[in-house]
Amino acid sequence: MNKDKKIYIAGHRGMVGSAIVRQLNSSGFNNIITRTHAELDLCNQQAVANFFSSEKPDEVYLAAAKVGGIHANNTYPAEFIYDNLMIEVNVIHQAFKAGVKKLLFLGSSCIYPKMALQPMSEDALLTGKLESTNEPYAVAKIAGIKLCESYNRQYGSSHNIDYRSVMPTNLYGPGDNYHPANSHVIPALIRRFHEAKQDNSPEVVIWGTGMPMREFLYVDDMASASVFVMHLDKKIYDQHTEPMRSHINVGFGSDVSIKELALIISGVVGYDGQIIFDPTKPDGTLKKLMDSHRLENMGWKAKINLIDGLKITYEDFLNQ
Ligand SMILES: NC(=O)c1ccc[n+]([C@@H]2O[C@H](COP(=O)([O-])OP(=O)(O)OC[C@H]3O[C@@H](n4cnc5c(N)ncnc54)[C@H](OP(=O)(O)O)[C@@H]3O)[C@@H](O)[C@H]2O)c1
Repeated sequence: MNKDKKIYIAGHRGMVGSAIVRQLNSSGFNNIITRTHAELDLCNQQAVANFFSSEKPDEVYLAAAKVGGIHANNTYPAEFIYDNLMIEVNVIHQAFKAGVKKLLFLGSSCIYPKMALQPMSEDALLTGKLESTNEPYAVAKIAGIKLCESYNRQYGSSHNIDYRSVMPTNLYGPGDNYHPANSHVIPALIRRFHEAKQDNSPEVVIWGTGMPMREFLYVDDMASASVFVMHLDKKIYDQHTEPMRSHINVGFGSDVSIKELALIISGVVGYDGQIIFDPTKPDGTLKKLMDSHRLENMGWKAKINLIDGLKITYEDFLNQ
């Protein structure tokens, strides 16, 4: 494989984008180009057009997005749908116009209906109502998949393009957001157990029963899956996908309960107080697991188990 090809990582400062840069660097790719948000606002059509026409990358990883938790999605729904649609439309269309042959779009498991059968397979897309709290974000992510598919269908043969999409499960790892009020469950629990340990608090109270099951994938595994899918032979990719059902789930393959997760994180952090679950607080969806057989059948499987991934993540938290 040509290690000199010019690869643009959109969103290289984010948790996933930075892991993709690490992965490509360690695999010997030496012509990676990046722009910070301040240097290139991907919502700005003209700026994105200028960037692509002057840089003309060979490959694009689209890991830039406006991302946030329930609160942010509920408070800023207009920004979530506008920014994500604009980023996708600008990057995918301008990449096409600049002659980019290969592009990988990163979506999210929230594209699937709220009541999708578990584990959620790729076929569940557009079969039911979405979770209302992040519907605008999910609609934008579905549009990203359909953009890739539509460009492939219209221009795949004539322009020799191949644009693919991957849908990650919940991710964690270095570069995560450990904000006390606005973070996902793993970074939030790391912070809470760490602070409880420092303060010698006798107990940590966690919302809900601890029963809901969730799937977590270490971000370097996600980066490895992204590079794998980008470079997968087209014949194999085509064998496992359809032109209008082409996205690929990327999960760990199994889930843990929030209770198990809390026990593992408290162990990694070294907190030995009591963990109390408050069943008067909402649990959220009881199970959310991706069906990742499509990707496994293509030849990729996650390698980093939860305990090892959490140990590295806690180190990252301590270095913040
Ligand atoms: N983290 C997860 O658990 C998870 C799970 C499933 C899917 N994903 C998907 O993976 C992708 C990356 O997520 P992430 O966790 O790495 O998010 P992240 O850490 O928030 O990174 C996103 C990056 O995009 C950049 N960005 C946002 N708007 C931009 C704009 N208008 N112009 C230029 N850059 C812009 C951000 O820069 P600034 O910070 O400077 O704005 C940031 O560096 C997203 O598509 C997300 O949906 C993530």
